[in-house]
Amino acid sequence: MFETLKTQPADKILALMQMYREDPRDTKVDLGVGVYKDATGLTPVMRAVKAAEQKIWETQDTKVYTGLIGDPAYSDAMIELVLDGVVARNTIAAAATPGGTGAVRQAFEMIRMANANARVFVSNPTWPNHLSILSYIGIEAVPYRYFDNETRGVDFDGMPADLKTAKKGDVVLLHGCCHNPTGANLNAAEWDAVIEVLLETGATPMIDIAYQGFGDGLAEDAAATRKLVAAVPECLIAASCSKNFGIYRERTGLLMAIAADPAAQALNQGTLAYLNRQNYSFPPDHGARIVTTILTDDALRSDWMAELEEVRLGMLDLRKQLATELQRLSGSDRFGFLAQHRGMFSLLGTSPEKVELLRKEHGIYMVGDSRMNIAGLNADTVPVLAKAIIDAGV
Ligand code: LMR
Repeated sequence: MFETLKTQPADKILALMQMYREDPRDTKVDLGVGVYKDATGLTPVMRAVKAAEQKIWETQDTKVYTGLIGDPAYSDAMIELVLDGVVARNTIAAAATPGGTGAVRQAFEMIRMANANARVFVSNPTWPNHLSILSYIGIEAVPYRYFDNETRGVDFDGMPADLKTAKKGDVVLLHGCCHNPTGANLNAAEWDAVIEVLLETGATPMIDIAYQGFGDGLAEDAAATRKLVAAVPECLIAASCSKNFGIYRERTGLLMAIAADPAAQALNQGTLAYLNRQNYSFPPDHGARIVTTILTDDALRSDWMAELEEVRLGMLDLRKQLATELQRLSGSDRFGFLAQHRGMFSLLGTSPEKVELLRKEHGIYMVGDSRMNIAGLNADTVPVLAKAIIDAGV
C-alpha cells in the first residue's frame, strides 16, 4: 500500500544542516539551524542544567507516568517565567509538549477544533514550519506584511493594515520576541498598536515565544507577551525551552491557553489534556524536570540567568562586530540593521542565488531566504563572512 505515498518536500532548514555536514571544507561556516554555539563551535550543556540533572539523578525514585498535561509544577514555573503573574493563574490552562514545535502543533489543533474555518494570520516571512504544519493539518495561512526589504526593519505601514482584515474566529500568530527568521522586532508602541487592532477585530492572538532571553533580556523579551495577555480576553502561547535552557533534544515546551474566566479555563484545560492523549499520551518529562528544578532553586536559577545573559551579550557583540566590519568594507551604513536586530537570527535580505553563491564559493551556509544564525559566528569568522558578503555583491 505504501507505494501510493508521495515524496514530501524537505524542510529547508534541516536539509541545509545535512548539506553542511557533508561539505568536506574545513573553512565552512554554519549559519543554518537555530542552535546556539559558543566561540569554539560547541553547543554546551549549561551549568545549571548539569547541576539540575545531577540533582534529579540523586533524588528521582520513579519514572512512572506524569499526568497527561505533564507535571503541574513545570507549568507553574514556566507560566511564572513567561507571564510573571500578569493574569490570574486560574484563567490559564497549560500542557507540557514535546518542544516548542509540539506546543505550536497542539495550538493549531485546538484552533481547528474550536473553529474548523479559522484562518491563521502569519508574518511574511515566518518560521517555515509554521506554514508547513498549518498546511499539513488543513488550516488556511494568511500572510501579513512584516519585513521591509528596504530598511530590513518591520513594515509597520503594512502590518496593521493587513491585520485589520482578520475577523473574530481567526488567529493572529505573533513572535513574542527575536523574530524568526528576520531578527526585526516590533517596538513597544508598535505592540500597543497591534493590541488595538486585535481588540478591534476580535481575532485571537497566538504568541510563539521560543527565544526568551536571547534578545534584550529575560523580562524584556516577555514584556510584549505580558502586555498583550493582560489586554485581550483570550490568547494562546507556545513557549520553548530548547534555546534558553539549551536542552534542544529533550523536547521541552509548554502550550498555554489563557481564557477570560475560570470556567472557560476548565474547558481549555480539558481540551489540552485530550489533545495530548490523542497525539502522544504523556509529554516527555526529563527536560521539563530540569527546567522546574532550575526555576525553583534560587542558586540554580541565578546561575542559569547569568549564563543565559553571557550567551545573549555574546550574540549582541557578534552583531556589532559584523556590522562594523561590513561598514568598513562597504564604506556605508547599509548593514547597520544587523546591530539593530535582536535574537539569534538576521535576514540579510538577499536573493537565493546570492545565498547559493555564498555557500558554493565561500562555504557559508545560511537558509535560502538569507537567514543567518548569528551564534554560528566567532571573532575569526566575522571578517570571513563580511568579506564574502561584499565579494558576492550583496
Ligand atoms: C530554527 O528555526 O532553525 C529552529 O527553530 C530549529 C528548527 O526546528 O527549525
